[in-house]
Amino acid sequence: MYYPEELIEEVRAKNDIVEVISGYLKVQKKGSNHWACCPFHNEKTPSFSVSGNKQMFHCFGCGISGNVYTFVMKYENYSFQEAVKMLADRAGVTLPEEEFSQEARNRESRRARLLEVSKEAAKFFYFQLRSPRGRIGYEYLSRRELSDETMHKFGLGYAGKSGAELVRYLRSKGFEDEVIKEAGLATNSERYGLVSQFWNRVMYPIQDINHRVIGFGGRVMGEGEPKYLNSPETPVFDKRRNLYGLNFARTARSGNIILCEGYMDVIAMHQAGFTQAVASLGTAFTSEQANLLRRYTDSVLLAYDSDGAGVKAALRCIGILREAGLTAKVINMRPYKDPDEFMKALGKEAFEERISQAENSFFFEIRVLESRFEMDDPESKTKFHREIARKLCEFSEDVERDNYLQAVAEKYFIGIENLRKLVISYAAQTGLARPMERPKSGVQQKHHPEENAKKSQRLLITWVTDEPALYGKIKKYITPEDFTEELYRKVAERLFRELEQGTYNPAGIISMFEEEEEQREAAELFHTNLPELTTGQERQKAFHDIVLAVKKNSYEYYTAKLGTDVNALTQVIAGKKALEELARTHISLD
Ligand code: UTP
Ligand code: MN
Repeated sequence: MYYPEELIEEVRAKNDIVEVISGYLKVQKKGSNHWACCPFHNEKTPSFSVSGNKQMFHCFGCGISGNVYTFVMKYENYSFQEAVKMLADRAGVTLPEEEFSQEARNRESRRARLLEVSKEAAKFFYFQLRSPRGRIGYEYLSRRELSDETMHKFGLGYAGKSGAELVRYLRSKGFEDEVIKEAGLATNSERYGLVSQFWNRVMYPIQDINHRVIGFGGRVMGEGEPKYLNSPETPVFDKRRNLYGLNFARTARSGNIILCEGYMDVIAMHQAGFTQAVASLGTAFTSEQANLLRRYTDSVLLAYDSDGAGVKAALRCIGILREAGLTAKVINMRPYKDPDEFMKALGKEAFEERISQAENSFFFEIRVLESRFEMDDPESKTKFHREIARKLCEFSEDVERDNYLQAVAEKYFIGIENLRKLVISYAAQTGLARPMERPKSGVQQKHHPEENAKKSQRLLITWVTDEPALYGKIKKYITPEDFTEELYRKVAERLFRELEQGTYNPAGIISMFEEEEEQREAAELFHTNLPELTTGQERQKAFHDIVLAVKKNSYEYYTAKLGTDVNALTQVIAGKKALEELARTHISLD
């Protein structure tokens, strides 16, 4: 499924980056740029800039940058192809179907087949539940106080006692054994041949956000192991990127999402009117799921079980949500175990109240922490206070940290100034109280020689794109081969070619790369922080130094490759000449 370069460029050019990003974030125009709070790290003051001129975005907080494709890929968790498709759609550009490779077409049709067989199985289970033979399942669900309407809404079903029936049914609908197996619906048994995986269980079809059945959870009736049997991962069932109930919750418009642990919790919540409830799929909550939620809300309420395991899972979740830039609060369900039991015992209004009393995740963490220390032992208590200081260091923003510091000091009767001193000494020791450091952000600089060489190459590209007239002055000395980093060289080749023709288009250059990581790296090249210099002389010297550093590195690089690289000798000779000349000349910036 490769699209021709011109088409990719056409789609990009027809999707103005400011417009596209405005559809996702609240942006504000200031000067020639637009600004928003960065959706890719946690911040409260905008450092995410979108440039209409450059058709690129860049965050000065976490260093991420890219073009409209990078943004959509990152925000929507899309692959490059998916981003192209979505933006082509948006701009009304028709993509040629023929561009899909045979392999991609096969994959697509296999996925379609898996969705069909899952849907057919869901229908089968659904009718079983409502047939005389499924009575036992229906009674079980009724005993759990689910209404017919709720059972219908969630498409609940029943897998009968015979393992052969489902298989017979699906075969009669024209599904090959291979497909039935791949969907995780049946397995081969030596004695009976292909038999259903689910057997004498009530069935919960798992749907994606478009209401398509992608897998199943089957619960034993009464006691038994395992309590829930879940479909295995398949090409259509990705447990890390889907959430139970999200197909309904995404349109609930309640201003928050309630995250529960279990399928039954979600169903009970929806029945009570809390249609914003979702749960992960029999696996621990993932960062992919957090990113998914961020498309719909910025506030997540945790309704995890109130037992030890639930608290532990909630703590894990809080970290993941925070990292994704979502606010988390914790709902206290005590004395009940989970939302399902709570709802049965106290009902909707009482739960509303618990929602309004939900605890800020930071205080929840501190409270859990507190239970591990003994407050009447001064030593233990001190340790507790140190732990608080350590946690406070995790806030990157001064105002936020200070607000929490005051609140927590008051709540736990700690002297504000003492706690502040503790935080400062902690931060000084560990350097924690700094903006969150992100790998590959380009903001941090490592001081390896290789990293320095790359840095000069980045600076040169940024500078030349900012002041394209400079290209004419350096082309005598610098060629794309001087960019020893492969990705940089590709960018330089295209950039120099375009500059030669008098037009250049950084945002278009980025979409030469299909991987999000590569796009980010390419985009960084146009956003390196240039040194802040005031006088013309300083600028001139800095520029000269950069050109010299790039050339020198390239000279050394090719010298080391002499004898193994046919190209090296030419580069070395040219390099030597250029270096000598550069030592004598000054490149004027005017
Ligand atoms: P719970 O045991 O809390 O589930 O496990 P629940 O939904 O409240 O179940 P009921 O009320 O007893 O019917 C939470 C979730 O963990 C997964 C399921 O996704 C379940 O909903 N789980 C649990 C499994 O995948 N397998 C199991 O054996 C148990
Ligand atoms: Mn339960």
